[in-house]
Amino acid sequence: MTTPHPLLTAFENAGQGQVFAFFERLGPAGRAKLLEEAGEIDLEELERLHRTLGTGKGGSVDLGGLVPAPYELLPENGGDAAAWARARAAGEAALRAGRVAAFTVAGGQGTRLGYAGPKGTFPVTPVSGHPLFQVFAEKLRAAGARFGRPLHWFIMTSHQNHSATEQFFSEKGFFGLDRSRVHFFRQGRMPAVDFSGKILLEAPDAIALSPDGHGGSLRALSRSGALDLMASEGIDILSYFQVDNPLVRCVDPQFIGWHALRGSQMSSKMVPKAYAEERVGHFCVQRGHLVVVEYSDLPMELQRERDPSGRLRYIAGSIAIHLFDREFIRQMGSRGSGLPFHRADKKIPSIDAAGRLVKPDKPNGIKFEQFVFDALPSARNPVVIETRRSDDFSPVKNAEGNDSPKSCREDQLRQFARWLRAAGVPVGTDATGLPAISLEVSPLFACDEESFAESWARLTPKPRIAEGLCLAP
Ligand code: UD1
Repeated sequence: MTTPHPLLTAFENAGQGQVFAFFERLGPAGRAKLLEEAGEIDLEELERLHRTLGTGKGGSVDLGGLVPAPYELLPENGGDAAAWARARAAGEAALRAGRVAAFTVAGGQGTRLGYAGPKGTFPVTPVSGHPLFQVFAEKLRAAGARFGRPLHWFIMTSHQNHSATEQFFSEKGFFGLDRSRVHFFRQGRMPAVDFSGKILLEAPDAIALSPDGHGGSLRALSRSGALDLMASEGIDILSYFQVDNPLVRCVDPQFIGWHALRGSQMSSKMVPKAYAEERVGHFCVQRGHLVVVEYSDLPMELQRERDPSGRLRYIAGSIAIHLFDREFIRQMGSRGSGLPFHRADKKIPSIDAAGRLVKPDKPNGIKFEQFVFDALPSARNPVVIETRRSDDFSPVKNAEGNDSPKSCREDQLRQFARWLRAAGVPVGTDATGLPAISLEVSPLFACDEESFAESWARLTPKPRIAEGLCLAP
């Protein structure tokens, strides 16, 4: 008799022997695959999660002592203009010193958008239809040229989209970036469990694994060697943004300056919520710590609450743009001291004891995910700054309506029209600032009003402002 593989014994001892119920019937490839997946699982962590989160119906969120978080107002809304100017100078100095790298979380699956490929490959610009990844790549190229220091760019993928993402960059020649500065790594996975804590199988040789949430990025940055690379390159600030938002200023000197001057370990941007029910996280303070409370966790009466002036009380919406101190990531990404997990009850296709695939019509199990903003309460001197939505935030999340390709396209058009008008070029728009024509400005031509005015001034002859105008270098 041969001794069983140590993983089989470990799973059996942890009460998870069902994972290997079909092992004897599998061929060598199936066995190897299952063992590899099982090897990714931290059985102790899973047991702890089931004990703390897995019992009862959904996790209840602690709202005790919650108050709205303070933030740095933009100068136009009453903020301290001199402090913003100091921040900008400090941020520019940090960029010139090569202290900053960019980081995109691109592990999500674009399910709500109904798009099959990696979300970053989604064509997003209004005239050329350039993909999200190209928009970020060009913004980073422009910043590298402007500050005389080409930036490193870390991109977190998932197991599902890793190869497709790498292949896309290869096919597109890395959009003109130095490929030795673009780093892809996969995020971790977590097994789904049924309501009694048993790991589910999606096939006899496959565990039901899913991405561990964007919070998994902190562990993945550590594990992948990204933090060591940053250290060896003298980079101590990581600029974090989501793959769904082409308006984001990938590296924003003012934001970087606020973060650096305050000695912050993690900083965030907010926008005043557009309406009470907007589906964003809310910056709050709880027992002296900065926290983000998701829209799904903040009771509707608090989301709608207004102060005596009629303004929403919980106004500070998170647009998922953060800055991280490198060593803070190392600390939060290490085993044991990391982020909490959230529980989501889901319909998880899985096989029954006879090996038949069952597609449930109601939730049959639990997925565990980490959220990156849960690092905020542990951060020293966190700063939240206000930003203009029109300059930083118009994500593509849904197929239609709010945060859709259409709304995002229109917001890009409004931005380009605004820049033209600020440079003194007449463009007809409607009352919302939407131009009547389609036009596009490449980030390599300009990335804000100021750089647009400079590039436009240099341009001879000036192009006609007409349908399909594309401004690129
Ligand atoms: C998210 C935030 C919300 C914020 C809003 C702003 C959460 C739970 N909520 O909402 O507070 O106001 O964005 O747009 O995040 N991702 C991964 N791996 C994963 C899961 C997600 O890389 O395992 C990436 C996605 O590719 C995407 C981003 O994280 O870039 C956001 O994920 P998504 O699930 O779309 O979050 P939202 O519900 O839109």
